[in-house]
Amino acid sequence: MNRSFIPDSPFIPVGAPVHRRRLSRIETAFIARRNVLEIIPSYAYRQPIVSGDMLIRWHMMADPTGMKRVMLDNLANYPKSEIMRRMLRPAIGESLFNADGADWKWQRQAVAPVFTHRNVVALAPAMSATAERASRRLTVSGGRAELVAQMLTATFDVICDVALSGREHFDSQTFSRAITQYFQTAGRASLLDFLGFPEWFPRPGELLAGSSVRTMHTMVAAAIDARRKQATGLADDLLDRMLAAQDPETGHRMSPQDLIHNMQFFIVAGHETTALALAWALYLLANAPDWQERVRAQVAAQLSGRTATADDLAAMPLVEQVLEESMRLYPPVGLLARTVVADDELCGRAMRPNDTVFLPIWALHRHEMWWQESARFDPGRFDPVTGPKRDKYQYLPFGAGPRVCVGANFAMMQASIILATLISRFRFLPSQPLPHPVMTMTVRPEPGVFLEVQPIE
Ligand code: HEM
Repeated sequence: MNRSFIPDSPFIPVGAPVHRRRLSRIETAFIARRNVLEIIPSYAYRQPIVSGDMLIRWHMMADPTGMKRVMLDNLANYPKSEIMRRMLRPAIGESLFNADGADWKWQRQAVAPVFTHRNVVALAPAMSATAERASRRLTVSGGRAELVAQMLTATFDVICDVALSGREHFDSQTFSRAITQYFQTAGRASLLDFLGFPEWFPRPGELLAGSSVRTMHTMVAAAIDARRKQATGLADDLLDRMLAAQDPETGHRMSPQDLIHNMQFFIVAGHETTALALAWALYLLANAPDWQERVRAQVAAQLSGRTATADDLAAMPLVEQVLEESMRLYPPVGLLARTVVADDELCGRAMRPNDTVFLPIWALHRHEMWWQESARFDPGRFDPVTGPKRDKYQYLPFGAGPRVCVGANFAMMQASIILATLISRFRFLPSQPLPHPVMTMTVRPEPGVFLEVQPIE
């Protein structure tokens, strides 16, 4: 096996606490509210599947063959889990991400054209303009910056262009405060779910999330209204596609509520995840100066001080490798969940109807069976020529199969353009406090990614 680890690099990226003893049901419930990553048991990093019984039968599977069965070969048997859907429902209803079956299919067909390779390349100039603005903001940051906030501002700009062709109706700070509040309330796993309270029983998180959801929905609704008043079809953005979308079989169109829910999801998912991937990548590079210099040398040779464009990316493969390795160690979506419909078998274990199957992408990416020295930061793993071979289903930051992230190309292009531009202009160094990975809905660095930022003369 090819090795590209830097043997004397002492840096081990920050991980999540792992409990070695079995947690009681009540402990699990409390810990899951604080940080979902902490309920992943130590043996889930060593065995393909771990099962348990906590009112519901559950399984936690981090096995490539099993992932393929759930995400592709037997997809219909593993719809999205009700626990996850109910966490998201107040904000995104039964829109694309939450829907299943025929209801999912036509919504997916309606939005997929916005994300074809050709259309994503057409959006690259907006991404370069954002990278330029992010770079100007860092120049005036006074030598130290919190990179999650910086990256959220940058990626929010771009998603507003794609989703709404502009941001007149959006105050990014109000919107992002509402998102954070939502993640901290409804986004926290409910104690009541773990304790087996019935579906209809109101969850406190859902009630608390009400005002943040209202703030977000009001802003999205204003943008949709404004578009309805103009002629549609001129912008050819996501909103126009959704306004025009029609189910070919039933003639059904999106209701005003469906539109708000879908736009809401795209705006949140379209920028939060990418910003987190970028912030974690900068944390890793700041702590691995050898890699930072290697990437900078490649980028500087290509850009000579320019802002990166889509055409530059092929000549700077290390940028993509760094992002891939960052999303291995810190997958923005760290855990997926599915419900079993009919009897099946995964990793030799019987699945019964209504069992919950957790797919801990976080543990899959750090699993002893699939990765060598899995805790180390080594972008060389993703070198297409010298990197070790891997199973497609052992690395799933964007999921896989028909439900794979529709915005994956978009996210990678945006993140690459921003990362390349910033690395060519600034040197990043570690600072305090250190970030800790905390997952409620996404894997966020808490309390942020604080770095020293030195302009390169
Ligand atoms: C680094 C950035 C991103 C990551 C890590 C990410 C991750 C994911 C994952 C893991 C899924 C699959 C969920 C499942 O199987 O249950 C997903 C689905 C989805 N993502 Fe992303 N995503 C990212 C960026 C984006 C962007 C930029 C957009 C849109 C602008 C987007 C829109 C969606 C949609 C609509 C789905 C649902 C697809 C379906 O069910 O058919 N994502 N994403």
